[in-house]
Amino acid sequence: MATKQIIVLNVNGDDHEILVKPQQTLLEVLRETLGFTGTKQGCNEGSCGACTVLVNNKPTLACSTLAVAAVGKEIMTIEGLAGQDGTLHPIQKSFVENGAIQCGFCTPGMVMSTKSLLDRNPNPSEEEIKEGLSGNLCRCTGYAKIIKAVKAVAAG
Ligand code: FES
Ligand code: FES
Repeated sequence: MATKQIIVLNVNGDDHEILVKPQQTLLEVLRETLGFTGTKQGCNEGSCGACTVLVNNKPTLACSTLAVAAVGKEIMTIEGLAGQDGTLHPIQKSFVENGAIQCGFCTPGMVMSTKSLLDRNPNPSEEEIKEGLSGNLCRCTGYAKIIKAVKAVAAG
């Protein structure tokens, strides 16, 4: 039985000291230990993108990342994107305004991938948007409205 260890994870700018097992995923720890349930668990095997968070500003599948591997890095979840008073981030606003959310299960992951894409490339082409979101699956929207929402926020 592997021993638990105390680690410090920096999530949305705050350090959290927690006890983890070596095999615990970042997703498990974010949701179950720290209560950041905005990050969703879909397939839990690296293929749907629902669990996407940013680690040092790179889209990262939290279900396929060990919590211990995120020590010393900056983790951002969907909870870190909205303002402290609950004001939606422009990307979130654009998803709402453009009807890019149906069941909403894919949305936090989509939004985090969009943030990373727009940070790297503030004015992406449609192809670049598709490429940037290619790891995020949506079963509801057919993607057209998501692409429209990303274009709208990039243009704004
Ligand atoms: S839950 Fe992580 S990729 Fe599906
Ligand atoms: S809105 Fe339902 S999976 Fe995307």
